[in-house]
Amino acid sequence: METTQRIRQPIVTVCGHVDHGKTSILDKIRGTFIQEGEAGGITQKISFTTLPKESIEKNSGEILKKFNIPLNIPGILFIDTPGHAAFTNLRKRGGALADIAIVVIDINDGIKPQTAEVLQILRSNKTPFIIALNKIDNISGWRTSESLHSFESVEHQAFTAKELFDEKYYTLVGALNSYGINPELYYKIRDFTKNVAVVPCSAKTGEGISEIIAMITALAQKFLTDKIEVSKIGRGVVLEVKKEKSMNYLECILYDGQLTTKDEIAIASFDGVIRTKIRNIQEALPLNSGFKTVDSVEAAAGIKLQINEKDDILSGMPFEVINDNFDEIKERFIEEISDTVSTDGIGICVKADSLGSLEALLILLRQNSIPVLSASIGPISKKDIFFVNSLEGLDRIILGFNVGLGDVEDLVELKTIKILTNPIVYKLIEDLQFWRDAKQKEIDRQKLEELPNICKFTILDFVFRNSNPAVFGVVVDGGVLRKNLNFINSSDVKIAQVKDIQLEKQSVPEAIKGQEVAISMPGINFERQLVVGESLYTNLGESQYRKFKEYRDLLTSEEKSILKEIAEIKRKSVSTWGI
Ligand code: GTP
Ligand code: MG
Repeated sequence: METTQRIRQPIVTVCGHVDHGKTSILDKIRGTFIQEGEAGGITQKISFTTLPKESIEKNSGEILKKFNIPLNIPGILFIDTPGHAAFTNLRKRGGALADIAIVVIDINDGIKPQTAEVLQILRSNKTPFIIALNKIDNISGWRTSESLHSFESVEHQAFTAKELFDEKYYTLVGALNSYGINPELYYKIRDFTKNVAVVPCSAKTGEGISEIIAMITALAQKFLTDKIEVSKIGRGVVLEVKKEKSMNYLECILYDGQLTTKDEIAIASFDGVIRTKIRNIQEALPLNSGFKTVDSVEAAAGIKLQINEKDDILSGMPFEVINDNFDEIKERFIEEISDTVSTDGIGICVKADSLGSLEALLILLRQNSIPVLSASIGPISKKDIFFVNSLEGLDRIILGFNVGLGDVEDLVELKTIKILTNPIVYKLIEDLQFWRDAKQKEIDRQKLEELPNICKFTILDFVFRNSNPAVFGVVVDGGVLRKNLNFINSSDVKIAQVKDIQLEKQSVPEAIKGQEVAISMPGINFERQLVVGESLYTNLGESQYRKFKEYRDLLTSEEKSILKEIAEIKRKSVSTWGI
């Protein structure tokens, strides 16, 4: 009995740090597999390349045979992504859009922040991946093997080049281990479930390129056969939305089933679900040779769709063909979107350009323990600004990942809240941390202002008046002496409040360390209560003392030592004071 399931081509994203060679590797794949070369040249935000089975067979057949890898997939659909995480996290229902990822790492550069970010996202999405260790030709003394097979290249280098390779490779292994990744050179791997394959390669010479294809084929067949079975239901993801005249024009990936021009589709959005007919479908041709208009298309495919609906459609949103089940799809989509952008009930406001990038941002913020109150897609709007202006402290900030300000230029609120935007998510988070640290200090400093000044002074032998009020000379030993501060002596006896401070017969608001001033204290009798040469200290309550301890980072060492003296005085009678 024949029960062959239909298996679609796996979707493979090429990701990694800027300039590590993602596009070059894909160019090389295309270049190697079509002799006449590729027109290309126009850099799209996201580009598709489909590699048909025959091309894989023809160019990686030898390697597949050598490593006993059967070829049961109908091809591979590659997605080239710009070097930032917004595109690494392309999502489909229940997981990552990419079935497999190629993480490109420049061997001379190692793991960079964006590589780290990509690794985190892939792990959190449980996406299988291989590492393309690119630019091996840059290793000093490197000799390219004629076969272009990188296992031959690596093993047959002259001593110094091999030593350089090993040094860089093992440094990388160490770094990857610290991310919980267990890498191994692809030709030494016995069990793909235990190791992540590393393929040394060069997009310049072509070394290792057919092995990349072979490893992907192996991974796809090992891990994905049930995931890449095609069902009847057409499902996809909107990657980019373009508007031409009044027409919405969507660049999408169809990852399951079939889509025809007769279909009606449901597209998820933040305010309900959009229902629309399809006007036109264009399918990406193999090896990136453009698009052609078709009546129907099967997964997996890169497509351009023209639809009737003019509503705002957002990047990253899932769509599905309607089969008399709009209500059911609607319910599912609404649940899915609210799950994807689940927020914390407190925290900051974040915006991003697509659902995938928003989710990537939320994942990274969660890892940094920064709570999010509001998360949405699109430019920063008036509504966002008014909303954030009603928040307090560390939450008075909007993060824009790959988005800018909408039509909000003249709002005065812009001056009172903070807006941070960046197309690179790790920079955005770095900037946010920086701002939060500074803001926290500012907030703490404000709280310090609410506490009494810490001060210690010593009574000098200048008594101008004995009482009503007592007026006498003091020298400030530390901290700041201000009017209205209450003082105690070293036996914790309450003395009185400072009513006035005079420096050279002029009343001054404060005196600092080393200054000799005259102070007036009502309600005391100098002769009976004070002694020349003794020190007085700011009188603190226990809760005030505890607050000071909380903000001790903001205190000077002098203030800290006076604070310690005050606590010691207080603890003479109550041993647990302030603890
Ligand atoms: P973004 O799309 O900007 O993130 O960069 P990318 O990762 O796609 O890098 P791209 O392919 O644009 O390559 C960046 C630079 O590295 C280009 O100048 C390439 O020519 C060069 N390059 C890429 N691969 C190799 C390689 O294997 N060897 C050498 N020597 N240079 C390479
Ligand atoms: Mg590129």
